[in-house]
Amino acid sequence: MLMDPKLIGFLSRALSHEMRAVQQYLAQSVLCDMWGLTEDAGKLRNESGEELEHVERLIRHMLGLGLVPNGTQLPPVRAGRTLREMLAADWQMERDAIRIYTEASRYSARIRNNAACQLFTDLLHEEQKHLELLQEWIMALDQKEVTDG
Ligand SMILES: [Fe+2]
Ligand SMILES: [Fe+2]
Repeated sequence: MLMDPKLIGFLSRALSHEMRAVQQYLAQSVLCDMWGLTEDAGKLRNESGEELEHVERLIRHMLGLGLVPNGTQLPPVRAGRTLREMLAADWQMERDAIRIYTEASRYSARIRNNAACQLFTDLLHEEQKHLELLQEWIMALDQKEVTDG
């Protein structure tokens, strides 16, 4: 089967995105740890682990197609100076993920590539959960700020 160049493009964009997410969450986790925010550091480390699992699934899919996994367009990490700034950057990053996976799953459905469609749809749902988690976390932080004055 001839490889669809646009599908390859989606796979490498997705891989670059996931590598960035691993790096961003991990950097933020370490920063939080340095600031003594141990619980937040743990949550961010956990996010980083989930993104690493996404990297693995994409690599597995690409290798299965005989493609060299090469996430070359690694966007810069946005760490933030406060936890609130970090979470805002993460929120934006998850929105980017959702945009990529929405387009990618629609495209693979259109070309009737079921395996790719399944992969992109699963990842889309997981990124939607990440976005929800971030929204709740941000709301809790803002609420705490109001209560603490
Ligand atoms: Fe991800
Ligand atoms: Fe995510």
